[in-house]
This record gives sequence, structure tokens and C-alpha cells, in this order.
Amino acid sequence: MCRNRRADRRIMDMEVRAVKTMRPSEIAELMQKALVDCAGAASAEELEAARIKYLGRKGALPAIMKGLKDLDPSERAEAGKLANEFKKAVSAAIAEGKRSSGKTAPIPGRAPSFDHTLPGLWRGLGSRHPVSQVIEESVRIFSSLGFTIADGPDVETEYYNFDALNTPADHPSRDIQDTFWLKNGSLLRTQTSPVQIRVMEKQPPPVRIVAPGRCYRRDTSDATHSANFHQIEGLYVDATVSMTDLKSDITYFAQRMIGPDVKVRFRPHFFPFTEPSVEYDFSCHACDGDGCRICKKSGWIEISGAGMVNPKVLKSVGYDPEAVSGYAFGMGIERIAMIKYGINDIRMLYENDVRFLGQFV
Ligand code: PHE
Repeated sequence: MCRNRRADRRIMDMEVRAVKTMRPSEIAELMQKALVDCAGAASAEELEAARIKYLGRKGALPAIMKGLKDLDPSERAEAGKLANEFKKAVSAAIAEGKRSSGKTAPIPGRAPSFDHTLPGLWRGLGSRHPVSQVIEESVRIFSSLGFTIADGPDVETEYYNFDALNTPADHPSRDIQDTFWLKNGSLLRTQTSPVQIRVMEKQPPPVRIVAPGRCYRRDTSDATHSANFHQIEGLYVDATVSMTDLKSDITYFAQRMIGPDVKVRFRPHFFPFTEPSVEYDFSCHACDGDGCRICKKSGWIEISGAGMVNPKVLKSVGYDPEAVSGYAFGMGIERIAMIKYGINDIRMLYENDVRFLGQFV
């Protein structure tokens, strides 16, 4: 057996040596074979034998190199390139073989042991997704203002997503074009606002909660829209909550989240569940409000809507609108991430490209 093996090796060595000029396809083929041999080596000796056979002084590589000059000039450059690749790949495979299974030559008379001087294998630690980072940072900021976290389901009933929020039966947002309806009549929530109702139904005032989560709309995705996105809902109900509280709390949030120079703009708007209602924008951090691609040259980025909780909503959950008032706001998490990190296309947040995501640590 042993003798046969030795004989085999001699024949193989002769094969290798006999080949004077190897054409590019033959070099590639031999490289594959060499890699298979290295990967299949079961011991340090076999690995060393593979090294001698392919990289040793009388091995395949010097033979390939020597043969290059006799090749047809049209094939020489490619063969040279492949020879380099051969050297790199086979050396790497041998190094890997030694490292991965401790196939370093054993010290005679001693069992092979772990080499503590070898460098460790570095595995990237990964990083949290920018959307998660913005959610966590937002929750931290609102916690510092006395808000607690609330939660609600992604699959909602029509009642919580629309009816209880005073949304008329013919409101366009209920449309099949805008909402993902499920066969059983439920829907994927289009906003985090239903959490307002779920919380107020369960507890008497005062209420001060933020509710981060996913929302779904039948939007065609483009640079600023995605059918699946995230919001944070905020709700503060107490004896004397006013629009001033809303404006100052959102401005405080913006300054802590984006930076002290960010400006906040409130524009009159309409939502059925707040009265009065506003939409609000943050100044574009990427261009300092001068106008760029991210803010579509306007200098502002729309974050979401807000307003004073409509007395009808307060009444429907059993609160007394004469005794308490409240504000509510939504916040588009992706929009904030885009401003904070200068991302100009929302789709990049969903492509799972770690080269992109790894930048936000
Ligand atoms: N839910 C609204 C939206 O998604 C935003 C909003 C939240 C408006 C709270 C007013 C109060 O557009």
C-alpha cells in the first residue's frame, strides 16, 4: 500500500515535470485539482506533500513558469496571469488547511497542540440597522421627557386603524389602492395612530406614551417612499396640554436627534383625529437648508403629522374633553434616518447590503 502510494506520487511528479508548456486552460484545470488536493489533505504530511508537489522547487509552479516562454504569444499573458493566480490560490489553500485543522507539522513524540501565537480569526461584529438606531435614540429622548413605550399589532382591525380615529367611511386612505386589506376584513396598519386608541381605552389620563413600529401602505417604492416603513406615534394627554407643548417637545426632540441648529416648521393640515392639525418638517441637515437632492431642493424634509387630539376621539375612549386635552404626533423614522445620516434613497435601507449598513455605527 505504502509502496504503491510512493509509486503513485512518483508518477504524478513525473506528469507534472514532464509538462513543459501548459496552456491557460490546462493551468486552470491543474489549479482546480491542486485546490481539491489541498482541501482534501487529511494530515500535515499530506498537506506538505501537496505543497511540494505544486509549489516546491521541482513542482508544478516552476514548471509552468518555465514553460511560459515557449507558449504562443497570444496565450502567454493569460497563462502568466493564471500562473500568478495558481501561486496565490494554492498558497492560500495550504495556509488555510494548516490553520483550520491545526495541521502544522507535529513535534515528534508529542500530540499536536493548539498554537497560541497564531492570529485570531476576525469575524465582523455587525452593527445595528440605522432604522433601529433611530428608533432607540428616539425612545431615549422621549423617555427623558417622561414618555413610556406602548405597542400595538401590525395586523389591525378597521375599527382601530380608521373608525376610532374619526376617519369617515369614505375617506380615501381606506381605499384598496392605499391600504393592504386582508381577506378576513383586517388590514396591515397604515399608521401607528391606532396605538393611541388602544392605550387610552386601557388607562385613564394622564397618558404619555411613544409607540414605535412598522406601517404598511400600497405605495410604489421610490427614493422617498416604501410600502413598508416605520413610525413613532406620540400621545400626551393631561389636564392642560397645549399646542405649545407639542411644538416645544418636537423641537426639543429634533435638536437632540439631529443637532442644535436644526429648524422645525409646522404647517396647517388636516387629520380626522386631531384638531387643529399640522404637518411638520425638519430643515435638511445635508445642505443646512440650502436645497439639495435629499430635500428635493426645498431645504425641508417632511417628517409627519401632528395636532391636538380631537375631542371626539377623547370622548369615544371615555375621556372627558372638558377635563383633559392632549397632543398626538407621528414621526417617519426613515425620514429622520435619511436626514441624520445623509441617505438620499430610502430603498438603501431595505437592501440588506452590509457595506452600506455597516457605515452607521
Ligand atoms: N398618523 C398620521 C399619518 O400617518 C400622522 C399623525 C399622527 C397625525 C398623530 C396626527 C397625529 O400620516
